[in-house]
Amino acid sequence: MDSIMRAMLTGMGGYDRCVTEFVRVSQTVLPARVFHRLCPELLEGGKTPSGTPVFVQLLGSDAPLMARNARAAVGLGAPGIDLNFGCPAKTVNKSRGGAVLLKTPDTLRGVCSAVRDAVPPSIPVTAKIRLGFDDDSHFMDIVAAALAGGISELTIHARTRRQAYRPPAHWSRLAEAVDMAAAAGVRVIANGELWSPGDVLRCRSVSRCRDFMLARGSLCRPDLGRQVRAQLIPETAASPPPAPLDWPDIPPLLRSYLHRNAATYDARYACNPLKQWLVYLQYHYPQAGALFAKVKRLRDFNDMDRALVAEQPALPTAA
Ligand SMILES: Cc1cc2nc3c(=O)[nH]c(=O)nc-3n(C[C@H](O)[C@H](O)[C@H](O)COP(=O)(O)O)c2cc1C
Repeated sequence: MDSIMRAMLTGMGGYDRCVTEFVRVSQTVLPARVFHRLCPELLEGGKTPSGTPVFVQLLGSDAPLMARNARAAVGLGAPGIDLNFGCPAKTVNKSRGGAVLLKTPDTLRGVCSAVRDAVPPSIPVTAKIRLGFDDDSHFMDIVAAALAGGISELTIHARTRRQAYRPPAHWSRLAEAVDMAAAAGVRVIANGELWSPGDVLRCRSVSRCRDFMLARGSLCRPDLGRQVRAQLIPETAASPPPAPLDWPDIPPLLRSYLHRNAATYDARYACNPLKQWLVYLQYHYPQAGALFAKVKRLRDFNDMDRALVAEQPALPTAA
């Protein structure tokens, strides 16, 4: 997700941290404008408007070059660097980035330690891995390599690269990694198929993780972060705990999203991200599917805006 979605979701609460889309590192130290495009929050202290830190994610296999790019991102104000060893895309893997590094734990360790050494100790360097490439037989070697590289937190997408995004996620495999990482003082963050607070509770009990990364689920349920937090750590929730968002709460968010996209990018392209969000929202709100069918052919900002206004519940008339 981009900075607009990060701002919307973190504004609703529940999130401790965001990570950018990956910045692909292949041949050079990227100019500031590339970092700013993927992480405009760098111009605002490295935080979303509601104050959630945003780590810059780097993807690549050339350890010295990854280190130089990490230093550049930190120089621009990144509060942390996350390293992507999970991306399954063929084009990315062919150029030796993302999940393909799970096949060569030594290279993965080299990237982690080069980046760790390149940035000040006060800047966290975190990594994201999967259970393996084709299968999970080397999972613990991969975890050991990331830990040996000196990372400070490890997010694990509980599937192999071959399993791509197909359910289920194998949360129970994370428990062993939690023990190994704890011995090094590192927390494991569980990721994969967390669509509801119930999923997070089940994942917590089988993985023994205490921290969770929400991905597609946060797009389907914009208040998932604060709902999860209210169930996991009730003492931190507002009192009374926030009611889950209902469909009538969603069209105003959609409209705000459309307007922010138009203001940030170009009104001509603002309809596309909105349609993409509706595709996710329909998994939790069937009404979003009906709205998508109505607007999928709209390309004009004003037409889309009118369709969203029509979707908003009428205000009660004054007595
Ligand atoms: C369209 C799309 C783009 C993604 N881009 C990234 C990315 O840039 N960096 C990353 O670490 N993960 C990326 N992911 C993976 C998610 O962060 C997450 O690991 C994965 O979707 C599993 O979590 P989920 O089942 O909760 O969605 C992406 C996933 C999707 C579907």
